[in-house]
Amino acid sequence: MADMLWAAVRHETAFQDYFDWDFHTLSSRERRTFITHPKSNHLALRLNAVEHRATFSNKALFNVRFAPFLGREWIDLRTASDDELAGFFTRHDRVIAKIADSLGGDGIEAFTTADIADQAAFRAARLANRQVLLEEFLTQHPEMSRLNDSSVNTLRIVTYLDDAGAVHTLARVLKMGNGGDVDNFSDGGMYTMLDEHGVAHYAAFDGDGGVYTVHPRSQTSIVGFAVPNWDKVQAFVDALAREVPEIRYVGWDIAITPAGAAVIEGNYNTGVFQLKPTATGVREGLLPVYRAAIGF
Ligand SMILES: Nc1ncnc2c1ncn2[C@@H]1O[C@H](COP(=O)(O)OP(=O)(O)O)[C@@H](O)[C@H]1O
Ligand SMILES: [Mg+2]
Repeated sequence: MADMLWAAVRHETAFQDYFDWDFHTLSSRERRTFITHPKSNHLALRLNAVEHRATFSNKALFNVRFAPFLGREWIDLRTASDDELAGFFTRHDRVIAKIADSLGGDGIEAFTTADIADQAAFRAARLANRQVLLEEFLTQHPEMSRLNDSSVNTLRIVTYLDDAGAVHTLARVLKMGNGGDVDNFSDGGMYTMLDEHGVAHYAAFDGDGGVYTVHPRSQTSIVGFAVPNWDKVQAFVDALAREVPEIRYVGWDIAITPAGAAVIEGNYNTGVFQLKPTATGVREGLLPVYRAAIGF
């Protein structure tokens, strides 16, 4: 406990950081290589213009601003007409409801359209829960389903747009659900890091201390998994990162579709993702990568 408090002061480590990256096993020199949540938060506040943050933090505004990149249909349950809602249900077998301004998978719920008998009651129930967005449930690439078919398994790609207009990739993450509708780490999901070719080389881990070289639901190997359509992801994320240049430090949730990639959301206050030392043997974090790109 004393060391946790010391790390909080010395390395700006949140308690979750200390736990996730096994700080109790790391030397001071090794700890210094980790980007922590408080440090990332400072970057977000410094690099992302306050007047543009709502475009990211409000999913309804995001979907409007990033329409060409969404790869899915959606409606706003506050304003859609009954006919629009009926048409939406006709076109999509599965839908997913979201609260516009929530995080970490909170308030996200998937529904099978055939189970919805009373559309007006469905709308009223969603609005009572503040689930104002209704999206088509994205069809992911079969290779991504082979990993885990309970949720769309997204990549978190963290980018930084520098003064000269170049886009730097700071982190590439493979997130996977584990039985739920969502893949969020804070909601039962797990993650591992990807190399620059979109390949995972290390075990994934979850927030309960679970470590997985193969996915526990599918038995698909996580170690060695290669993200399909990776060649398209790079150019796609580059275009996303230039879209709102006032927001320069973003964590993008990217779904891999049969045809290419689709953006789920952009986080202006992205969380931090790094390998877990006791699960992987890698005792170095990404702070040097962040420093080299951003120059702090
Ligand atoms: N349209 C969708 N179709 C299928 N799954 C989705 C869709 N939107 C989100 N998800 C799943 O829910 C997760 C969380 O969604 P997201 O919009 O990123 O909300 P949050 O801000 O809570 O992270 C995604 O990472 C993905 O697993
Ligand atoms: Mg997300």
